[in-house]
Amino acid sequence: MMDPIPRYKICSAEVLKNRLEIRWGDNHISAFHPIWMRHQCYCTDCGTPLSGIRGIRLHQIPEDIAIVSAELFDNTVRIRWSGGDHTSLYSGEWLRNHCYSSEERRRRRHQPILWDASLANDIPIGSLTQAEKDPSSRLRILEAICDYGFCKITDAPTDIAEKQRLIALVGVQRQTHFGTYTLTRKKRMTNVGDTTSQLDPHVDEPYRLSPIGITVFQVLHPSTNGGESTLVDGFEAVRRLKQRWPEDFHLLCRLPIVNQRFDPGDNSHGNERWYKSRLPVIKLDDNGKVCGIRTNERQMSPLDIAEDMVEPSYRALRRLYSLLYDKELRLVFALKAGEGLLFDNQRLLHGLNEFMPEEPQRSVLTSSVDLDEFHSSLRLLQRDLKSDRMHMLLRQGMAG
Ligand SMILES: [Fe+2]
Ligand SMILES: [Zn+2]
Repeated sequence: MMDPIPRYKICSAEVLKNRLEIRWGDNHISAFHPIWMRHQCYCTDCGTPLSGIRGIRLHQIPEDIAIVSAELFDNTVRIRWSGGDHTSLYSGEWLRNHCYSSEERRRRRHQPILWDASLANDIPIGSLTQAEKDPSSRLRILEAICDYGFCKITDAPTDIAEKQRLIALVGVQRQTHFGTYTLTRKKRMTNVGDTTSQLDPHVDEPYRLSPIGITVFQVLHPSTNGGESTLVDGFEAVRRLKQRWPEDFHLLCRLPIVNQRFDPGDNSHGNERWYKSRLPVIKLDDNGKVCGIRTNERQMSPLDIAEDMVEPSYRALRRLYSLLYDKELRLVFALKAGEGLLFDNQRLLHGLNEFMPEEPQRSVLTSSVDLDEFHSSLRLLQRDLKSDRMHMLLRQGMAG
């Protein structure tokens, strides 16, 4: 057997204070609780959560389960358990990849790269045709979406019949009441994206309990007179909010905002829809780190909060919007035909500059992919090309 890299090499495995303590080739030390190990045994009888076929149930494991012996062979630990005759095997790689020391948990957490308008000359760009040929180019694009929240795409088709190609780069398409929507100027307007006037930065569909994950814009026909797309890093905006006005930041992590959307059926084959959510603008993860943004001033509905909270809430929202609308944070893209934008709609806000109506009309295809579908695509590419990254904990967005 080939010697594992130091990170995965088990130097010793022994039971100390009723935990399995492992010393690794890179000097890291892990300590595993018996209940954690026994519950996650992945032998053929116990099964694996990856398939959902599991033979083991918590009630079958004694609460005081203990390790009777721990034996090391072939960089694998064999555990004999108290209270029965079960034996479990754990590979060094499996143990290290699931080690829950604070150091390893920190290492597995993805760190976003925050940005402002100064990123303009250095934005992430990828070619669709290149990514279709070369999985590592595709991986770079998906990693950019993860790190920066977006990637500009070139070499995309301008024929609507080929719309699936750009979507497939990210994952499977989410079906919403909009379906695949082409943003153009229409006679009767029910989608504000069809406007020719300026659109302030916003998140799409904050009125859904689970908002859009990745938005896919594909320019079929650009405007020749304005109509640039804009992007703002919501994480950077709320970082500034926290720095300047911490009490407003904390309020917006708690304060539920009602967002609504009524669709008379124009976008959904005559079926009316009425969506409404009441959730905070800022979502924090269990580490207190910002993991999602949900706000669209046009869809913000009457506040449904305690009377004494009305004024503080408006103050906090006003300050938040002063940052979200600040030009210092805004990237501006004049996208050409065959170019596109992929962005994380649970982190970035997007908008549009004003443009002049012309023929043929500006026409941008918009569709979406759920965040977990995007994560799945990224994880599979990492498994194949960068396996040390495949266990990264990706930000859960607004979920959870
Ligand atoms: Fe939008
Ligand atoms: Zn087992």
